[in-house]
Amino acid sequence: MNSLEVVLSLKIFDYLTKPTYHFSLCKHVRNALKTGIFFFSCGMSVFKRVVGVGSIFSHEEEAGVEYVDVDKLDSNSDELDGSKLEVFIAQQEVKFLSGLIRRYKPKKILEVGVCNGGSSAVILNSIKDDEEAKLCSIDIDAGEHVGRAVRKSFPELAKGGKWRLFKGNIAAKFLVEIGDGIDFVFLDTLHVNPVEFLDFLMILPYLKEGAVIVIHDVMLQHLVGGLDPKHAEYLRAMCKKFIQAYFGVTDVTSLQIQTKFGYPLLTTNCTLLWTIRGKNLIPSYDLPNIGAVKLESGQRKYLWEYFNLLTLPWVYVPGDEHLQIMEKFLKKYYSQELVATFEDEVTYHKAVFAATEKLEERKDEVKTEEKPVEKKGFWRRLMPWLD
Ligand SMILES: C[S@@+](CC[C@H](N)C(=O)[O-])C[C@H]1O[C@@H](n2cnc3c(N)ncnc32)[C@H](O)[C@@H]1O
Repeated sequence: MNSLEVVLSLKIFDYLTKPTYHFSLCKHVRNALKTGIFFFSCGMSVFKRVVGVGSIFSHEEEAGVEYVDVDKLDSNSDELDGSKLEVFIAQQEVKFLSGLIRRYKPKKILEVGVCNGGSSAVILNSIKDDEEAKLCSIDIDAGEHVGRAVRKSFPELAKGGKWRLFKGNIAAKFLVEIGDGIDFVFLDTLHVNPVEFLDFLMILPYLKEGAVIVIHDVMLQHLVGGLDPKHAEYLRAMCKKFIQAYFGVTDVTSLQIQTKFGYPLLTTNCTLLWTIRGKNLIPSYDLPNIGAVKLESGQRKYLWEYFNLLTLPWVYVPGDEHLQIMEKFLKKYYSQELVATFEDEVTYHKAVFAATEKLEERKDEVKTEEKPVEKKGFWRRLMPWLD
């Protein structure tokens, strides 16, 4: 019971026993009972704290959420010259990432989604004084720019075998070489279904018990949606860059971003952050676009929920080469039933995408009721732009 609940119960008691009420008590009896209630409530509060029982209102304790004041974290990110970082995460988020690394002192860090390498530099800077700590970074893109901020502007941070960069493929391709015992992950890839869901399923077998996973862009659906004008312009521009780079669309109008690839579909990282079981670590400032989970033990019991994320509508279907690598990898670590969920979803979403293309080609002839994809179940939503 917290102080609010104690005050409330005293008020209710007062109301029920006041002289005008039919259940009236003399002043002395009322005062004695009120003192009793007060000490009983305090006792309950101490008891619940000791045995770990709480009321439904003490949300932070119950749900295992810690709201982190980033300014109080021991981050050393101010030492880096921000103008050379080429980073895709905001300054407060840099502090959060660096502060959590310095709090948990991980030894084997995995970063998925590198781009220019700004976040790699932040991570390397956070572990520079810890001889045992190492970073492995993966990016699907094989481009020259991948990781260049570290090579060009902060080469001293990568010295002594502190950093290994794996590029040109998905995590499944490199994880065997990287090996298990990963105790900290920074996940920041495409932010559309099913990319980060699949990234997580690939990483999971390689994690150490109690590992921390930091996920970026967990609020894109809100920020890009324009509810927060401060971020909207910047994020729309960022989104546009993504779409141009990864979907090969050169002429992206803001309308396309809003409707086709935009905020209603950028919910992936938010969904993942709150699905992974463990203690959540969330910056305490307004609208945090980054968050973390410290995994609880026994993650295997939640595999069904994690695979079930793949049944959410896909915005992107990975290429066949990547799908094959992934399938082989998943078969190694997960049951036949779970892998079948993955396979079914691939088949289904490929059909949806093929149908979308056909519909777009035949836009003028096809009536809206005509849907060439057989739905698996009435609850299955097709891609929004098919409707
Ligand atoms: C937002 S950028 C990363 C930004 C970087 N973390 C930073 O803060 O500076 C996303 C990167 O993820 C990469 N990416 C997209 N899908 C991926 C996947 N499935 N596996 C690995 N990398 C991926 C892209 O090539 C791109 O470079």
